[in-house]
Amino acid sequence: MGWPNIEGAIPRPYLVLHIIFIFICFTTYNKLFSRPSLHPKAPPLTHGVYPIVGALKFFTHRWDFFREAARASPTGNFSFFVGRKPVIGLTAEASRQVFFDNRHFGFAEGYDGLAEGIRLTQKAADKMDFSKFFNSRMVRVLRTDAMQRNLPKLIGDVRARLGDLAVAIPNKGFETEAVVDPFDDIFKIAFQLTIRSVGCGDIADDLELMGKMIHWYHLVDSLTSPTAVIYPWIPTWGMFKRTVAVMRLFEIVKKIGDERLRTGKRGEDAMQIMIDQGDDMGHIVGFVVSGLLAGTINSGVNASWILIFLSLNPYWMTKVRDEVQAAIRTHATTTDPNATIVEKLASVPLEAWESDFPTIEVCLRECIRLTATGATFRRNTSGQDIQVGSEVVPKDAYVAYSFNDIHQNPSVYPNPTKWDPDRYSEGRAEDKKRQYAYLGWGVGKHPCLGIRFAKLEQYLIVALFTTVFDYVACDSKGNPITTPTPIDLNAFSARRPEPRVYLKYKLKEKI
Ligand code: HEM
Repeated sequence: MGWPNIEGAIPRPYLVLHIIFIFICFTTYNKLFSRPSLHPKAPPLTHGVYPIVGALKFFTHRWDFFREAARASPTGNFSFFVGRKPVIGLTAEASRQVFFDNRHFGFAEGYDGLAEGIRLTQKAADKMDFSKFFNSRMVRVLRTDAMQRNLPKLIGDVRARLGDLAVAIPNKGFETEAVVDPFDDIFKIAFQLTIRSVGCGDIADDLELMGKMIHWYHLVDSLTSPTAVIYPWIPTWGMFKRTVAVMRLFEIVKKIGDERLRTGKRGEDAMQIMIDQGDDMGHIVGFVVSGLLAGTINSGVNASWILIFLSLNPYWMTKVRDEVQAAIRTHATTTDPNATIVEKLASVPLEAWESDFPTIEVCLRECIRLTATGATFRRNTSGQDIQVGSEVVPKDAYVAYSFNDIHQNPSVYPNPTKWDPDRYSEGRAEDKKRQYAYLGWGVGKHPCLGIRFAKLEQYLIVALFTTVFDYVACDSKGNPITTPTPIDLNAFSARRPEPRVYLKYKLKEKI
């Protein structure tokens, strides 16, 4: 039995090639062009949705895209496609609650389809298992006992890195100044505190190794591309480089984990907690790398912005500095009569850090409102359509909500682009005006699991930096700036400003 010969027509080998060619054309056409038809009760399809890519502006001008699409829709909700993936953009008031509260809107599934995370596995069941493992371990490694144990080391890290900045001052004197890009050097502090808290001390203690990790981390972060989200099966050079960078991060962490298993060497850190629980090393390494990616970008960028905003707002700077002095007076536990201000601050216990810095808390809150520019994603995993008002989110569809929809709403936050921590004061309480009016730490089913640690690290960085240095925000040449560089509301996530903003600092207190 062979291939049937079509008498007198195409010779057999050509026929095979012909069939393969048609098959490839059909599959490619199907994968690129064909889209599921829109559910009749889904919100209306918005304009600017093209073949192959879908909604281009979703990638080029995300906030403009959401805003215009919402305005054009009678309910504020709208449909679009990302490649072939159907997405429902929700903006209406009641929709926001459904988005955050509905337990069938899968978190990991949403980000997996619409954002370029790191893919540890392709199998859905394994993904879900890892997601559960990740969340439960995140809660475990950031428990009070672990935070208490880590606090002296975290303070030590901040002091050491500020010490490095002091060394950069010419003549290391109190009268001379140096200039730093906070989005590099303050970011590094956040990275170190994060790897110490959700990873392993071996990396946090080894600045060279940490430098390598930061290099690979930035590469992963910088190589996200629309193609990888729209058609993840198309191999691109960027995707290849990104995969290599992720593998390098894994290798660094795995080497340390394997050595601990092999030699019995122990650490006092998150990795050890998981090893002691008998967790699989692949899962532990996945946890550490994913935790770094989840935790660092927001922490590093916000810690930098908050220092910039404080330098531009002397009223808040004074309030913060007064708050730090008050905490030292009330809570410092050192009995050394010769202790410096910084040593006294370093002796403040965890409970006080967590409860007695309300001014830094509102400054941070306001920074996050402005820098949380991207969108948040879910996927309808219920197996059926989900009703949202008079419309439906079809089964398996993705759902997207832009943080700016509420954070930049002038009827909730008047003059919304202004950094104004007083918005949260008792008299104004703008973040309480509506249900879920503040989303900076997540709400509903998926609040931020790192919030306690994230706040602590911000308090440590801000309290110590403003105590140790006098500083002003400046341009690259060191010329002071008086108005903040506007935050790019179309950015996918918290980002450094362009043009860049620097800090010119001089020593105020001994470190
Ligand atoms: C200033 C720093 C941070 C900000 C502003 C922030 C903000 C957020 C927000 C808004 C969400 C919810 C996202 C959504 O609803 O789609 C979230 C979730 C999450 N955050 Fe944070 N975060 C910060 C730092 C951290 C850190 C340091 C960690 C851990 C090291 C962390 C771990 C997580 C995790 C695991 C989730 C997912 C929770 C879930 O799956 O239910 N975050 N964060």
